[in-house]
Amino acid sequence: VTHAVGDFLITQWLFSTAGGKYDIDLAESCAQVQSAADVVIDRDLRLDYSPDRGQVETRQAVADLYAGACGPDGVVVTHGGQEALYLFYRTFLSPGAHVITTVPGWQQSWEVPRAAGCSVTELVWRPGDPFDTEALREALRPETSLVILCSPGNPSGCMLTDDEWTSILAILDGAGVWLLSDEEFLADLSTSTIRRYPRCLSVSSLSKMYGLPGLRMGWAATASAEGRAAIERMINYKRYTSIANSPICEQIALDVLSDLGSQQNRYQSLLRDGAELLTKFAALHSGVISVVPPQGTPFAWVQLDAAISSFTLARRLLDEYRVLIMPGEVFATEHGFRLTYARPTDVLSAGLDRLGDLLEKVRLRPT
Ligand SMILES: Cc1ncc(COP(=O)(O)O)c(C=O)c1O
Repeated sequence: VTHAVGDFLITQWLFSTAGGKYDIDLAESCAQVQSAADVVIDRDLRLDYSPDRGQVETRQAVADLYAGACGPDGVVVTHGGQEALYLFYRTFLSPGAHVITTVPGWQQSWEVPRAAGCSVTELVWRPGDPFDTEALREALRPETSLVILCSPGNPSGCMLTDDEWTSILAILDGAGVWLLSDEEFLADLSTSTIRRYPRCLSVSSLSKMYGLPGLRMGWAATASAEGRAAIERMINYKRYTSIANSPICEQIALDVLSDLGSQQNRYQSLLRDGAELLTKFAALHSGVISVVPPQGTPFAWVQLDAAISSFTLARRLLDEYRVLIMPGEVFATEHGFRLTYARPTDVLSAGLDRLGDLLEKVRLRPT
């Protein structure tokens, strides 16, 4: 038995509710987005179909990010990380299987497995809290086939510690369970869990720290023979969905990946400058908000301590101030919001000023 997927709340908020109503975006999870003028486009490129799994040069450049943990044969290039995740769910999961994911989190990770006829346990991993490894152990069932983890997490911005990973991987190994490691926000993929666990697939993309979500260039990578077999099944499914990647996007991706140093510098300086403003902002509005320190993500989770829901706050900020944030409700939680600070400082400080104004209103006059 398969089921329909529910409405995708994040994009519904971004495009339907908020579309056209804001001029400052502190909601999208990407670092400040780059434009076509920032990349090199080969005018002579042939607009033919390209190889379904991605060109060997692109797959090699992705493999290099994992610093030798995998080769080009362990990589499939996809339309964003989202397609890689979807292809894995559709080819790996069978009806009746049990899947474990975490909330607040990425809605696809419970919605698509449920649509594939699986039962899903949503483990609570609150922003800033340690991961509950015992709860993971207790959630395992004989039919559990997959655990999905995202570190650093969205929307928490928090990473699993090395000790937490060690305990988690021991639990999964003992049960023979696969790990889908959503590493969209892991800036250094040489530390990917594919290094530590063979039944593991890493998914990432050029969307987040590179600020290139419109390229729709993502991938899955694995270090093991069983992972490569899973990737072959994904490639076969991809022939029924998008067939191949856009050669223009792959050419740009290759160019971007050949210039890693300046891409990383751009990202780190956005984070550094933004974090400074964010820290001052948090101090100014303590009592009504507290910021969970982000661990390398373009955004931070902000706890809201006011007699108003985070959704109402986000709605008022949009309607009265034309600033966009991501209310906790779209991640299956409440009393908080995700705030993206990897923005040019003039944009960020204008956005934070407006948000601060509203926060002081709701501190004084709860609605
Ligand atoms: C946790 C997580 N996984 C996957 C994605 C998919 O992103 P993309 O398809 O742009 O790589 C996102 C996008 O926001 C995300 O936050």
